[in-house]
Amino acid sequence: MAASESSAALDRPDGLRHQHLLDLSPYEADEIQVPTLQGTSVAHLFFEPSTRTKLSFNLAAGRLSAETVSLSKASSSVTKGETLKDTARNVEAMKVDVVVLRHPSPGAPHFLARCTDSVILNAGDGAHAHPTQALLDVLTMRAHVDSFEDLNVSIIGDITHSRVARSNVQALTTLGATVTLCGPETMLPVEMEAAMDVRTTTRLDAALDGCDIAMALRIQMERQNAGLFPSTREYHRQFGITADHLRRHPDLLIMHPGPVNRGIELTDAVVDHERSIILSQVTNGVALRMAVLYVLAPRREEA
Ligand code: CP
Repeated sequence: MAASESSAALDRPDGLRHQHLLDLSPYEADEIQVPTLQGTSVAHLFFEPSTRTKLSFNLAAGRLSAETVSLSKASSSVTKGETLKDTARNVEAMKVDVVVLRHPSPGAPHFLARCTDSVILNAGDGAHAHPTQALLDVLTMRAHVDSFEDLNVSIIGDITHSRVARSNVQALTTLGATVTLCGPETMLPVEMEAAMDVRTTTRLDAALDGCDIAMALRIQMERQNAGLFPSTREYHRQFGITADHLRRHPDLLIMHPGPVNRGIELTDAVVDHERSIILSQVTNGVALRMAVLYVLAPRREEA
């Protein structure tokens, strides 16, 4: 070992035994390969549909050399009446270390965290929270802004039923950004204004005035039957972002957690515009979830 590193007896969770990266002569084979999560197993339990979150968690775990398994509601014994708790305890009995859970019930990941010893990662629970989505959104914004203190973000759509909105408000206000929530009155919980230190408005023009980043949310079609908005056409007329908005706000960036209803929240021209950073969000989702697994997944000594 080089003299400069001999006093650095490090106890790093990643197994590396060096303080610096100067040359490779002191490195053992296991450090050179860095199979960070080799021997660690990750189960993806998705009780709701998902494209981005499920695939990116899967890719993230694979790129860190973890063993992965996946279960969807339709292919699980939940369809035969097994409870979530029993499902998770059976998964744990197979020595799974990390459970990535998407579930329609708010609080389901918190419940599992109390009744199993696996590390639980919330991949979206009902209308409650989607923490990795907000973390990847913040990561995506960071590439475009100098400081969160000077940043104005407007979140537009069905705020009431959005776990993405809740987690983003928590992340962005913690970082010092100014957040405006915009949507129809029926989808805009005004109590959030005081409780979460945000501004609310039912006017899209007001939300876009002085805004740096507009984050549109997916309109959940099933809400139309609940009478929360008259029609998708009417929603688009009042809250849809168009090329005209981009012309009037020449520095405005567009985000959307996906899936996008093209022609409703955003026109085709906006989705595919050079100031749309929607696919950067998706790309960053893999790196962000790798980072989350890297920090939180337990390490196994042996593969
Ligand atoms: N943003 C998001 O959660 O997308 P998916 O539902 O496709 O995972």
